[in-house]
Amino acid sequence: MTGERVALVTGASRGIGAGIAQQLLDRGLRVAGTYRTGGELVEKLAAVHPDRVLPVPFDLAAPEGAGAVIEQVTGQWGRLDTLVLNAAVWQGGKLAKIDLDDWWQVVEANLRSTAALVQAAIPWLTQGATPGVVLVGSAVGSVGFPGDTAYASAKAAAVGFARSLAKELAPKGVRVNVLAPGFVDTDMTSAIPDVARARIADATLLGRFGTVEEIARAAVFLAEDATFCTGAVLAADGGWTL
Ligand SMILES: NC(=O)c1ccc[n+]([C@@H]2O[C@H](COP(=O)([O-])OP(=O)(O)OC[C@H]3O[C@@H](n4cnc5c(N)ncnc54)[C@H](OP(=O)(O)O)[C@@H]3O)[C@@H](O)[C@H]2O)c1
Repeated sequence: MTGERVALVTGASRGIGAGIAQQLLDRGLRVAGTYRTGGELVEKLAAVHPDRVLPVPFDLAAPEGAGAVIEQVTGQWGRLDTLVLNAAVWQGGKLAKIDLDDWWQVVEANLRSTAALVQAAIPWLTQGATPGVVLVGSAVGSVGFPGDTAYASAKAAAVGFARSLAKELAPKGVRVNVLAPGFVDTDMTSAIPDVARARIADATLLGRFGTVEEIARAAVFLAEDATFCTGAVLAADGGWTL
């Protein structure tokens, strides 16, 4: 293995993924960041950190590209220690009205891409230093939300996936954990009307939405510091699920 630790963060162009990438860089890791449409944003980060950021295109809806993503990272840096599966497809719609093909696309894009990336990464992670996988789930996966049957199904499945994978990979020293954020101020929640935002904040013990920095800190904790945690689900939801 060569040089400093290497992380791969999916959806590193915006929101929580960009925050995670930044905090990993601040801790001295080299970071490969995937994007779908926001390539110029990851390129901008790469310009600030020459040789320490690798922008990699990846569409969750095309999981057959997962092997090429892992090859690009390991071809560049020769190792992979931390995998943060942050990118997600969200599309809302009450089940009574949603087209089932659209419903399935959300579930499939989120789940299949996760399995494909981890599968391609396993041979590298098992050679990594205190290697870890973090799946960014959601509080909605455990308590549900109206209009989110597809997204919540995928997020709930992430927990079963992570716990099974934790059991598969523990003998090789790879930890697998889930971060379950509550409501966070990002593009994903920007369309929530003010009245609904206020209702959600009221239902959150800490009385507000979380910030990208707070959620990124929790993700980096699971990825880098939580060396005796595996199969864990860390709620970072301000108490919304209590
Ligand atoms: N925000 C919240 O309140 C909240 C709450 C609970 C859980 N989460 C979870 O936290 C994670 C990050 O959410 P966020 O709020 O930071 O989202 P966001 O601001 O909307 O950013 C989404 C990121 O995922 C990427 N992405 C979206 N669709 C993609 C696709 N089809 N293929 C590849 N990449 C795709 C985007 O890439 P481009 O920019 O390149 O398109 C972007 O980097 C997600 O797993 C989400 O489910 C968020």
